[in-house]
Amino acid sequence: MPNEPKQKVHQGQFVRAVSRQGATLRLTIDGEMVEAVEGDSLLAVLLLNGRAVRHLEFGGAPRAGFCLMGACQDCWIALGDGERVRACTTPAAHGMVIWTDLQKAQAHA
Ligand code: FES
Repeated sequence: MPNEPKQKVHQGQFVRAVSRQGATLRLTIDGEMVEAVEGDSLLAVLLLNGRAVRHLEFGGAPRAGFCLMGACQDCWIALGDGERVRACTTPAAHGMVIWTDLQKAQAHA
């Protein structure tokens, strides 16, 4: 299923245990505007918005990263300029464009 469009997993996949104080950021994930709080990682933004980093090649199960600390390479996503970054160690910024589908990222870069 690697060429099928990624879909939102479902709402409530990830919830904040503690509220975060900070500026509200607006960024785009796969063409959809979402909000985040200053200090969130891109992985947190993805999961808080019911998305996955990718889907498994076998069975299509959603992946949400593995180590969450920049070591496993399981959370690569692309920015609007095509740069690939780890979602778990990249802080969200206002105006960011994020693609979980690397083919779409290349098409829009
Ligand atoms: S989840 Fe392991 S590198 Fe990001």
